Formats: sequence, structure tokens, C-alpha cells
Amino acid sequence: MIDWRAACALALFMAAGSQEASAALPDTGSAGAAFVAGYCTQCHGAPSPSSHSAREWAGVVERMQNWRVTKGFGAIPDRDLGPLLDYLKRHGRAQ
Ligand code: HEC
Repeated sequence: MIDWRAACALALFMAAGSQEASAALPDTGSAGAAFVAGYCTQCHGAPSPSSHSAREWAGVVERMQNWRVTKGFGAIPDRDLGPLLDYLKRHGRAQ
């Protein structure tokens, strides 16, 4: 079953080619940047950590975990999820 609403959202997201959404990851070479590059680019470009605040990231990443499971990529294991989320929060936008 294709989730058209999500497919459209993703198409828009990608078509926008938003600079911000696919900006180079800060702190390149860190474990967090590697996890984002490894776990967050199967469906769209690398998300920019500054696109969300630290508070928002937990919810977004939880939603992305669901997408990963739905699409058959499997959930990100806890040992990688912690550093990944810490990285996004650390580089997240203020508020
Ligand atoms: C299995 C596919 C898939 C993977 C892997 C994936 N995403 Fe997404 N992502 C989507 C889809 C589909 C959308 C559009 C619908 C939505 O926002 O839920 C999206 C949208 C987004 C958006 C834009 C919407 C918003 O709330 O700002 C961000 C940011 C994002 N993803 C971050 C991430 C991060 C961080 C990871 C890795 C932890 C990740 N994505 C991994 C499928 C994926």
C-alpha cells in the first residue's frame, strides 16, 4: 500500500531541494554526522540539524523511525539512536 499523502509530502520536500534540508552536515567526521548520513538519507537528502529545535527533534526522529520500519529499513538501534539524536539536538536551531 502506498501512502500517497506521505509520498506527496516527500516529493514536495525533495522537489523543494531545500538548501536547508540538504545542507552539508556540521561537525563532519563526528559519529553523529556519520549516523545521520547513514540512517537518514535512504528516502531524502541529509536533513539539516538546524531545521528543528532540540525539543522538536525527538518527535521528528521518532516519526522517521516509523518510516524506516514501514519502508522495511528497520529501526535504528538504540546504541546509534542516542548519539544520532544528541547530534541533531546539539546542532539544532535555538527554540
Ligand atoms: C524510510 C524513509 C525515511 C528515512 C530513512 C528517513 N526519513 Fe525523514 N522523511 C521521510 C518522509 C516520507 C518524509 C515526509 C513525511 C514526513 O514528514 O513524515 C520525511 C521528512 C523528513 C523531514 C522534513 C519534515 C519535518 O518534520 O521537518 C525531516 C527533517 C526528516 N525527514 C528528517 C529525517 C531524519 C533526521 C532521519 C534519520 C533519523 C530521516 N528523516 C530518515 C522518510 C524517511
